[in-house]
Amino acid sequence: MSKKRIVLGIESSCDETSVSLVREKSEFEQEILSNIVNSQIKIHAKTGGVIPEIAARSHSTVIDGLIKKALSAANIKLNEVDAVAATAGPGLLGGLIVGVVAAKTLASVLNKPFIAVNHLEGHALSAKLEHQIAYPYLLLLVSGGHTEFTIINKFNNYNRIGTTLDDALGEAFDKTARVLGLKYPGGPEIEKYALTGDENKFIFPRPIIDQKNCHFSFSGLKTAVAQTVAASKNKNSQFKNDIAASFQKTVCDILLKKTQFAIKEFQKQHPNKKTTIVVAGGVAANQKIKKVFFDIGNEFDCNIFFPSHYLCTDNAAMIAYAGLERLKKNKINNLNFKPRPRWPLDKNAVFLKGKRINV
Ligand code: KG4
Ligand code: ZN
Repeated sequence: MSKKRIVLGIESSCDETSVSLVREKSEFEQEILSNIVNSQIKIHAKTGGVIPEIAARSHSTVIDGLIKKALSAANIKLNEVDAVAATAGPGLLGGLIVGVVAAKTLASVLNKPFIAVNHLEGHALSAKLEHQIAYPYLLLLVSGGHTEFTIINKFNNYNRIGTTLDDALGEAFDKTARVLGLKYPGGPEIEKYALTGDENKFIFPRPIIDQKNCHFSFSGLKTAVAQTVAASKNKNSQFKNDIAASFQKTVCDILLKKTQFAIKEFQKQHPNKKTTIVVAGGVAANQKIKKVFFDIGNEFDCNIFFPSHYLCTDNAAMIAYAGLERLKKNKINNLNFKPRPRWPLDKNAVFLKGKRINV
């Protein structure tokens, strides 16, 4: 291979501003030269959730400093960059605009390609930054904004086979934490409190678990948790631990059952392939969920991959990497590409939020 291409990636779709440089190493390998993340958690903790306007302001305040930091940490000069990629959706419009405008400006000054990356493609490919994973594989994306099973047939060929009909799983963790009076983001808090809780103390509903499909629904679970908390007179720490543990167990039961349907669907579509499952997105940082999947791997003879924690939560390394794959295939974008707050990874996927499914 001649010159090893370098892509600068920008992520600003929600509450993390991040800039990364990724360089190709060999045909199937690449290296992260730098990955700088500025988390807005402290800002949003005050309000218990992300306020889009405040998030956008924070992105615009830090973005240029982060670009400088990422270049200097990678020991790369701006003119060595071969393309500039940014998350162009889905996400909060104000934040997307900040990242996309920064990337377009750099690309036009450098006279190098601009690449609009789908944030979900970043998560979908993130595990390939650390492991050599062959296509096709089954992706479970579980984050604050998305919960879906997608078959990654090959690069740029994605088939969503299941999605949430209401809340994303990360959202359910965050809302459960909020009713218990715990910090934002709720996922890590719930995991911590659950460690010393009794997971069988409360029996919560597992909506649509018996439907033979790969869809999820978490809003009934969330409401049941809120009602149990509201009805309790004594909300001491043991109570909080027990709610957290029972909630987390319910989530694990749902994931276990729905993943079995997803494996069947994957095997139907790829009958001669061993099933490989990649679990990505912020919720994939949860150790209990990780254990469920490694058990699934043993029981159903599947390969299981989880990206490292820093690649599970929002980061620009996955965006730069998706940008690099696009650059290799000459899939570059025009400077008039507009950010897309809603942008499904599988363009044929039907929008199912709020829909009832009876299968
Ligand atoms: O992928 P991500 O960083 O941002 C989005 O694209 O949404 O995911 C953030 C979500 C939050 O809802 C957060 O509570 C959840 O991931 N999360 C966790 C854990 N760490 C983060 N959920 C469960 N257990 C965790 N350890
Ligand atoms: Zn994300």
